[in-house]
Amino acid sequence: MEELHSALVSPRHVWWKPAGKQEKLWVTISFAWCMILFAMMPLWHLKGGQNPSGIRTRVEPADFVKRVDQFVKDYKVGEEAGFPIVAPPPGAEVYLLARMWQWYPALRLEEGKSYTLHLSSSDLNHGFSLQPYNLNFQVVPGYDYGLRITPGAPGDFRVICNEYCGIGHHLMIGKIEVVKAGAGAGGASASTAGVAGQEAGR
Ligand code: CUA
Repeated sequence: MEELHSALVSPRHVWWKPAGKQEKLWVTISFAWCMILFAMMPLWHLKGGQNPSGIRTRVEPADFVKRVDQFVKDYKVGEEAGFPIVAPPPGAEVYLLARMWQWYPALRLEEGKSYTLHLSSSDLNHGFSLQPYNLNFQVVPGYDYGLRITPGAPGDFRVICNEYCGIGHHLMIGKIEVVKAGAGAGGASASTAGVAGQEAGR
């Protein structure tokens, strides 16, 4: 009798060609490779030093602005063209606000001391990029990201925005100054008329 093919009737086993040796080998290699790539994700997170394991909490943009203002009030040590320079003590909670189109305020940190750097935005998405280092971080309104940082060397660093945020995006340059330990709050620092001044002047 002629056998009818229908979705209602299962075909007789085994109707397919069993996997050959090479196919089995290939599937095994692919699967093993998948597992290696999969394992690399958490491994990179823990060992690669690429993804900052910071704290993240929700925050109303207006509340974050209040925290930044309080932070500036508490630790302000100077001004450049009306733009505050803030030198928090070692171990402090440090606040940096991203907004169109500035990083507020300018920070002065001490070499070898640890801080928690809180980042958030009061308007839209910005990108925290520390120059000349390869450190990139998304700054999203509504979230407070706390990055644990320990500046390794003194110097004058720039923060640029690497997330397109409108007409002034390319002008969004901030400043983090790292001074020798003990020279932080109230310490003398080289005059840095420049970036912070430009921002304040806009
Ligand atoms: Cu902020 Cu681009």
